[in-house]
Amino acid sequence: TVLIVDFGGQYNQLIARRVREANVYCEIVPYKKAIAKIKEVNPEGIIFTGGPKSVNEEGAPTIDSEIFEMNIPILGICYGAQLTAKLLGGSVMKPEKREYGKTSINYQDSPLFKDINKSNICWMSHTDQIEKMPEGFNIVATTEDCPVAAMENKEKNLYAVQFHPEVEHTQEGYKIIRNFLFEICKLDGDFTADSFIEDKIKLIKEEIGDKKTLCALSGGVDSSVAAVLVHRAIGDNLTCIFVDHGLLRKNEGDDVERIFRDEFSMNLIRVNAQERFLSKLKGVTDPEKKRKIIGEEFIRVFEEESAKLGEVEYLVQGTIYPDVIESGTDEASVIKSHHNVGGLPEDMKLSLVEPLRELFKDEVRNVGLELGIPEYLIFRHPFPGPGLGIRVLGEVTEEKCDILRDADYIYREELEKAGLGRKIWQAFATLPDVMTVGVMGDERTYSYMVGLRAVTSTDGMTGEFYPIPYEVLDVISRRIVNEVKGVNRVVYDITGKPPATIEWE
Ligand code: XMP
Repeated sequence: TVLIVDFGGQYNQLIARRVREANVYCEIVPYKKAIAKIKEVNPEGIIFTGGPKSVNEEGAPTIDSEIFEMNIPILGICYGAQLTAKLLGGSVMKPEKREYGKTSINYQDSPLFKDINKSNICWMSHTDQIEKMPEGFNIVATTEDCPVAAMENKEKNLYAVQFHPEVEHTQEGYKIIRNFLFEICKLDGDFTADSFIEDKIKLIKEEIGDKKTLCALSGGVDSSVAAVLVHRAIGDNLTCIFVDHGLLRKNEGDDVERIFRDEFSMNLIRVNAQERFLSKLKGVTDPEKKRKIIGEEFIRVFEEESAKLGEVEYLVQGTIYPDVIESGTDEASVIKSHHNVGGLPEDMKLSLVEPLRELFKDEVRNVGLELGIPEYLIFRHPFPGPGLGIRVLGEVTEEKCDILRDADYIYREELEKAGLGRKIWQAFATLPDVMTVGVMGDERTYSYMVGLRAVTSTDGMTGEFYPIPYEVLDVISRRIVNEVKGVNRVVYDITGKPPATIEWE
């Protein structure tokens, strides 16, 4: 294990990603909890992150210097490098010129820089820099404006770099991190999807044994991978409940049933609750009301079904690592509580099983592929809990859902054909509650209009519209109008988030 001690830097998750890409397990830990965590897990290596403060500022994040006496290799990055210098008796100052962006750097001989191009480009982003090195350290890299761009104390296995090896623009950054992991910490790099699955299955078997376990399967990536993994461990003691609220995309319900029940032989209960949801939604046009109705009805259906199963002790959830990382600088260290299935009953007295808690999204995908889940499910775009209920704008009816399903299917199919599916974070069609006039075969039409949305994003919090080539849009538009009865116009949403949201409701 490598512990990444978080001093509030903006690239912390990126450092963790780089370490994981080298097949080394790592965790991010807030600086205040770092010493306790180190004593608990006994890591083979420690990385200090950057941070927004100056080490010379009153109350700046710091750490007990006993950490340098624990005989664990440490790599300090940016703020982490300056803190290392200061705590060990060196000093840090604010130079006249700050360095920002791509910078030429000269690396010297060091285990950290083994087999890399010594005259290269790195990514700098700092106002302070190391003025005086602590005793026992040597300079191992310099730039024009930063004499101590890297320093080492080989004997004590302490390394510090002013630049950001985790950022792509540091051309040799990936190798530098690997050198730290493999040359200095002597790690193996054996944290693979394969080994993860094997370990997890063992742990789940030990924990759950033959107790009854429940999973709310949505057909999304995280819950699907979690369910299949738990099923591998406990077989038929796992029951999956799949609530089909009638607001799913085309073929989605049948796909889920086929994959999980037929291919994976899992205990799957599909609840066909379309009519229930539609009758609750009748006449409702307010988006927030619709969300609320769908969420509450989901819980009710889930409760009814699970009650039929008798005593159940565990509930599987597809929580993933970005949902549980504690920020190093949040005083309260709030952990986001995140319910992937969109709110399960609060008062269900179940213990949670969250087998994917340690994984990033792309690692979840690798585990899913390794478990044999089909690619189209693994690389599926995010889909909101309320489903088409918030993509059919205004009142939701079965007719409108059917129209939208067909249009959305054609849209996504053409994006796949054009090779754009994985370049886009999320693409979907919406059906505004608007009829417009058209002309088809000399006849006047008065029909629905379909809106197309495609955005790039990393977490759904912000996003840009994706520029789909006009030729592709042209094919999509023609196919939708020709093949979907009730549609005579297609429009393309070119708004970012903010100011718009990704969904239209
Ligand atoms: P917005 O529309 O807020 O969406 O920009 C951001 C991301 O969240 C998804 N989304 C939801 N997911 N339940 C969910 O599980 C919801 O109620 C919900 N509303 C929006 C949306 O699809 C996008 O990926």
